[in-house]
Amino acid sequence: MKFGYFDDANKEYVITTPKTPLPWINYLGCNEFFSLISNTQGGYTFYKDAKLLRLTRYRYNNVPTDMGGKYFYIKDGETVWNPGWQPTQTELDSYECRHGIGYSRFTGKKNGLKASALAFVPMNDNCEVTQLTLTNESNEAKSVKVFSYVEWCLWNADDDMKNFQRLLSCGEMEVEGGTIYHKTEYRERRNHYAVYSVNAPIAGFDTSRDEFLGAYRSAANPEVVEKGQCTNSMASGWSPIACQQLNIELAPGESKDFVFVLGYVENPQDEKWEDAAMQVINKKRAHEMLARYATVADVQKALTNLKEYWAELLSKYQVNSKDEKVNRMVNVWNQYQCMVTFNMSRSASYYESGIGRGMGFRDSCQDLLGFVHLIPDRARERIIDIASTQFEDGSAYHQYQPLTKKGNSDIGSGFNDDPLWLIAGTSAYVRETGDTSILDVMTPFDNDASKATPLMNHLKRSFDYIATHKGPHDLPLIGRADWNDCLNLNCFSEHPGESFQTFGPSEGPVAESVFIAGMFVKYGEEYAQLCELKGDAAEAARARAEVEKMYAAILKDGWDGEWFVRAYDAFSHKVGSKECEEGQIFIEPQGFCVLAGVGVKEGLAEKALNSVKEKLDTKYGVMILQPAYTKYHLELGEVSSYPPGYKENAGIFCHNNPWVSIAETVIGRGDRAFEIYKKTCPAYIEDISEIHRTEPYVYSQMVAGADAPRHGEAKNSWLTGTAAWTFVNVSQYILGVYPTHTGLQVNPCVPSGFGDFDLVRTYRGVNYHVSVKNPNGVQKGVSKIIVDGKELVGTSIIPYEADKKDVNVEVVMG
Ligand code: BGC
Ligand code: NOJ
Repeated sequence: MKFGYFDDANKEYVITTPKTPLPWINYLGCNEFFSLISNTQGGYTFYKDAKLLRLTRYRYNNVPTDMGGKYFYIKDGETVWNPGWQPTQTELDSYECRHGIGYSRFTGKKNGLKASALAFVPMNDNCEVTQLTLTNESNEAKSVKVFSYVEWCLWNADDDMKNFQRLLSCGEMEVEGGTIYHKTEYRERRNHYAVYSVNAPIAGFDTSRDEFLGAYRSAANPEVVEKGQCTNSMASGWSPIACQQLNIELAPGESKDFVFVLGYVENPQDEKWEDAAMQVINKKRAHEMLARYATVADVQKALTNLKEYWAELLSKYQVNSKDEKVNRMVNVWNQYQCMVTFNMSRSASYYESGIGRGMGFRDSCQDLLGFVHLIPDRARERIIDIASTQFEDGSAYHQYQPLTKKGNSDIGSGFNDDPLWLIAGTSAYVRETGDTSILDVMTPFDNDASKATPLMNHLKRSFDYIATHKGPHDLPLIGRADWNDCLNLNCFSEHPGESFQTFGPSEGPVAESVFIAGMFVKYGEEYAQLCELKGDAAEAARARAEVEKMYAAILKDGWDGEWFVRAYDAFSHKVGSKECEEGQIFIEPQGFCVLAGVGVKEGLAEKALNSVKEKLDTKYGVMILQPAYTKYHLELGEVSSYPPGYKENAGIFCHNNPWVSIAETVIGRGDRAFEIYKKTCPAYIEDISEIHRTEPYVYSQMVAGADAPRHGEAKNSWLTGTAAWTFVNVSQYILGVYPTHTGLQVNPCVPSGFGDFDLVRTYRGVNYHVSVKNPNGVQKGVSKIIVDGKELVGTSIIPYEADKKDVNVEVVMG
């Protein structure tokens, strides 16, 4: 069942009922000011950091779900309704939510009145703008009232749930015409306040939630709205809000627009007050911001800027195939999600609280793979930020804080895959841009400038950390965990409340990871290539020799007969082997070893992938392991803490499905690669939204596996490495346009019925117009490449020529 449809021409997903299975959200903002906004206008807003600088309040786990947002109540006679349906839930005559790229538009109709709210965060400004348009579609004059509503939370969002004995006495407000200022805690150490404004004369306001709602009521039935008159309340402590009342007359057919601006303002210390004695805040910067959106023309201009920005970004990879679902995912939604993961990492979603994890080391490195072609300059900056949290021995803080960019010592280090992801991200950046100067950038260890060394040295330390931390089988030690945060082989946690990620020793001398071994083969080679670029042939040769050793170790002790072993535990027992009672086969080493090329020439790759198909496949995607752990295994940790079928315990972890799909392309099986691609691809499962339940335009982290009662149901949408890896898979391996150090390689691996396709790929500033013909419907193989009329001989890499603007490439598969 569907709850909407894709409007490809406008790059929008159109939701046609407010009653989606779960809130279906969008992200507004591209730089520093962000809003999460759901299809019923729920959500919240923050500046830079959803924990420390959250403007509006949001309650997770609320009942009914998704209460709290930027609402407009419309009182038309005795009927009170909202254009986004919540919070009154008054049935609408019609409803539509259009989630676009960086904006959302909500349109509700009731009793001949149409209300449309268009919300977005303008480029380079710290505010969210909403244009509210009311249209009288009836034959009679209408006299209606509009009440806006936001609830403030501009204090530490953690304290909002813990330290209310203090916060309930702190709230302070100022009101100036139609503009409401939230200045709680500004009297002391804050240099910032928030503002909510409307560009029209108001008929009243409220800033005290208790006055607005009335006792024992909720946002579903505010007393002020029911009575039809604001009380001009000034909040003093308790819960400050902003509500503006507009009384509006509309002739038949008449339309009126109002512009609401929700903004964040910072003042330098010496310009903090307009009147320090009276504690009146300096509103100059707020006035300037509001003036930028004084009229509908201003708003439309800002929206056009935003749309142009996105059109430019997305133009860097555009495909035109016969498969409209592939086109819409590649051209719009997958790249969009990659940008959102760049901005949010794993901090703020409807499943991540915004107050927990900061930026993950491995997460951020992998996210890079999905957006490096879009915003290479910001990718460069991100790489240096990440590398600066590495330790001198090559290990790394597992997370760092977005505001301070410092490593997070609560979680510390010891996740032994982390160092290699830095090589992955840097290599992707250099391949994309050709900018080897990044390798010379003096980059601190542990954020200590006195310990700065060229980035290339960081990569060497990454490489050496793995090469020198091996266990009894010459495989890499796993530490606290590798990519699978829940495979905690050194943890041995027996008491609730202990964190699986930090409890126990950070490293045992025995537990080893075959997955990291596969990574080492892949990124060890990429490291060697970077060494060559730097002219260091000796280091490249040394690296390749280490890679050879690792390859041999995988074949010797990492192969189980029909598939790759997952790990060795702290007793040197196999994990992910036919010898195990449960958890006999894991997805990660099958995908990663094969995509790294391990076992291809020995014929093991094909066997491993056949085992994946036989043992892990479901119609909703490939499960992470089988059989599921049915009881808690002290020696395995969190993986066995989840009930069978969920998360890392035999869920369909969408993140590593593309690894298997890529692995299939490595051995040339385009049909199977594409089959796997489709199973978790949002556009393909839109039709089963009642089962899948999360947004049909973005990937989720996890879909419940075959052992779960709700097999097929997804959780944790938006912020997942799945976005980057699925984009890498479809763009670089299936459609086959892969950036190398010397040029763009074109080597598609498609299903036999995929047909011809064209694409445009901007690479190092040159637009490659690629046309792929597949006359015999082969899955892989290129028989001819013609570049600007000249046939390319002996290679599928189109050499990069900086002086060209456009290059025409004809590719014949066969
Ligand atoms: C989740 C993992 C996640 C980890 C982060 C675990 O509970 O299952 O997916 O990576 O928490 O700390
Ligand atoms: C989510 C985490 O963000 C990521 O770092 C990890 O690799 C996966 N879960 C698997 O555990």
